[in-house]
Amino acid sequence: MEFYFQIVLLAFLCFENGIFTTTSRSDQVLSIIPETEADVEIVKNLARENQTALWHPDSFHHIKPHTDVHMYFNISSVESVKALLSTNGIKHSVLVEDVQELIEVQTKNISTDPRSSTGSFYEQYHPLEELSGKGTGPKKAMWMDCGIHAREWISPAFCIWFIQYHLQFYELNPSVANTLDNMDIYVLPVMNPDGYSFTWNEDRMWRKNRAKYDGTFCIGTDLNRNFDANWCTEGASANPCDSTHCGPFPESELETKAVAQFLRRNKHTIKLYISIHSYSQMLLFPYSYTMNKAENHEKLNYVAYLATTQMRRHHKTNFVYGPGAKTIYLAPGGSDDWAYDLGIPYSYTFELRDKGRYGFLLPPSMIKPACLEVLTAIQTITSYVIDNAK
Ligand code: ARG
Ligand code: ZN
Repeated sequence: MEFYFQIVLLAFLCFENGIFTTTSRSDQVLSIIPETEADVEIVKNLARENQTALWHPDSFHHIKPHTDVHMYFNISSVESVKALLSTNGIKHSVLVEDVQELIEVQTKNISTDPRSSTGSFYEQYHPLEELSGKGTGPKKAMWMDCGIHAREWISPAFCIWFIQYHLQFYELNPSVANTLDNMDIYVLPVMNPDGYSFTWNEDRMWRKNRAKYDGTFCIGTDLNRNFDANWCTEGASANPCDSTHCGPFPESELETKAVAQFLRRNKHTIKLYISIHSYSQMLLFPYSYTMNKAENHEKLNYVAYLATTQMRRHHKTNFVYGPGAKTIYLAPGGSDDWAYDLGIPYSYTFELRDKGRYGFLLPPSMIKPACLEVLTAIQTITSYVIDNAK
């Protein structure tokens, strides 16, 4: 019964088009090769009377004799177009037989099919909502920089590891999902690229950047003494030959200036600043430029306590925590103090593994455990900031 009905319908369509040919059941894309200028005109005219979309070339101006034209036609005009082309002796063939089918293949959500073996998020197409995150309005943000100091190789390694971890584990680790759903994360993996490169090629123990100023033989400014936070007072050196040289003036260095500018421009959304250093296993917070307590010292201290406690619980790793000046030494012009005074309420500097057995020469086999334990700390901090920062 149903079969009979289809036959009748086909015959009717063929009759309507005035020719007997196979009838399309879908929108189609045709490949057309005009041979003469007259053919070209006919092809260009197709767009006037039919629902079409030119696939190739990009513009009708570029249609020339002997060049292949790919054109999409709505189901309602496919057969009449083919007839017209045949009548005029213009070569054509079907490029896409069933447009609707291919659209479905691209848009059906494979992840809802448990039998699917190609269920990876990255091997499917996604509508905008799935690409641009959940929720409405601006999120709180965090900033993290690595590699301020050139020789602290575990630092850039951590930033890179942190990025791949978040890309890979969104669907598998609820804590990662919670962070990414509720927070924008800015990561600068190598803040001191010239210095880092120098440690690979010339001097493994180099700390500063590679800026050179007239009138001095020595090279390099300590970027973590170059911020405008009690700049170049006790704990920094005005001597360009020292490894803690503060530079000629605050933000004199391109690297410092670029980071400071970004933080200034985004200070209303950034609630958390993190800087990654090594080594000595510490979690430091403001201030380092003075022995005085920061205004929200209690909260900074409490969150540091939570973070280091989680590291010990989950990884058996001990991290000392406290304000920089009291925990290690007076060190003015640092990024963490500057970011804090800018108004970013949670500001931390991590000193990663180890405590000196390998120091800056931490073997690659320790990258993963070093990263995992700090991730635990950062997740503790971010979830606190997401819930509590104003
Ligand atoms: N070891 C780091 C340095 O000397 C510690 C940074 C702590 N924060 C600071 N503002 N000094 O730069
Ligand atoms: Zn450092």
